[in-house]
Amino acid sequence: MNRSGTADLRAATAVEVTKDRNGVDQVVLRNRRGSSARVSLHGGQVLSWRTDQGEELLFTSSKAIFKPPNPVRGGIPICFPQFGNCGSLEQHGFARKKIWVIDQNPPPFLQHNDSNDKVYTDLLLEPSEEDLKIWPHSFEFRLRVCLTVEGNLTMISRIRNINCKPFSFSIAFHTYFSISDISEVRVEGLETLDYLDNLFQRERFTEQGDALTFESEVDRVYLSSSDVIAVFDHEQKRTFTIRKEGLPDVVVWNPWEKKSKSMVDFGDEEYKQMLCVDGAAIEKQITLKPGEEWTGRLELSVVHSG
Ligand code: BG6
Repeated sequence: MNRSGTADLRAATAVEVTKDRNGVDQVVLRNRRGSSARVSLHGGQVLSWRTDQGEELLFTSSKAIFKPPNPVRGGIPICFPQFGNCGSLEQHGFARKKIWVIDQNPPPFLQHNDSNDKVYTDLLLEPSEEDLKIWPHSFEFRLRVCLTVEGNLTMISRIRNINCKPFSFSIAFHTYFSISDISEVRVEGLETLDYLDNLFQRERFTEQGDALTFESEVDRVYLSSSDVIAVFDHEQKRTFTIRKEGLPDVVVWNPWEKKSKSMVDFGDEEYKQMLCVDGAAIEKQITLKPGEEWTGRLELSVVHSG
C-alpha cells in the first residue's frame, strides 16, 4: 500500500487492511477529518461509507449474509459484465462474487489526478479460468476507491480489453443509500427521461413527474441521464449527490413490501430504510476493441441541512 512521497506517507497512515470473519481482506480508508470507507476484496464491494461524525451513509441489511461467493445485501455491489438477467450470465454478472486483489502497481490514472488530500486503494479483477469458460473475454478491471478530504466517496473504474477480439459489457454500481423513510425521499435529475421498467418486461416509458417519489415497488433503468442526480431525504435532513462520468444510465430500485418478504437476506420492513440509485451503463453496452480501455467515474457526496 505504501507509495513514495509526502502524499504517500499520509495515505499509508490512513489506509488499513484488515480481515473479515471469512478471512477476506478489507481495506479501510480514513481521511484526516475522520470520514471513512470500507471496501471488501470480495466483489470489490464498498460496505461502509461514514461521515466525520461516524454516521453511516450506506444501507446494509440486518439479514445480510457475509459468506462468499454471494454478495452482501447492501453497500455498493458492482454488477459486471452484465446487469440484470437479460443475457447469458447469472443475474448482475460475476464480478460481485469474485475475490479481487489489491493492485500494487496500477498504471497511472490520466484524469482526476490524486491530490495529497485523498486516500485511496486500488483493486484489480482479472478473470479466472472458470470465468473465461462462461465469458470468454480477457480483461483487467481496475477500481480505485477514494475518499476525498471533504469525505466524498469516488469510484474510478477502468476496464481494459486484453483479448484479441472485441467484447461488450454492461455495468452498474448498485448503491444502497441509507434513508430515513422511503415515503419521505425524492430523487431529482430523472424528470422527463425515458426508462425501462423491469416490472413490465423492460417496456419503455417516459417519466412524467417533477421528481421521483415512492409509494410502491420500483425497478427501473433511466436512460441517458444528466451527470448529476440528487436524493433528498427530508426526514434525515440530508441530500446525497451522485456525480457520474461514462455512466449514462441510472438504476432506481426499491423492492417494497412483497418482494422484501421473498428475499432471504433482507428484512421484511427494511425497504423503508434503503433506496438503490446506481450510476450505470446498461441500455447501450460498452464495446472495447483489443487493447482499448473504458473509464467510468462515480462520486457520491452528502450534505446535511438544518
Ligand atoms: C436491481 C434489479 O437492480 O437489483 C432488481 O433491477 C433486483 O430486479 C435487484 O431484484 C437486486 O438484485 P440481487 O441479485 O442483488 O438480488
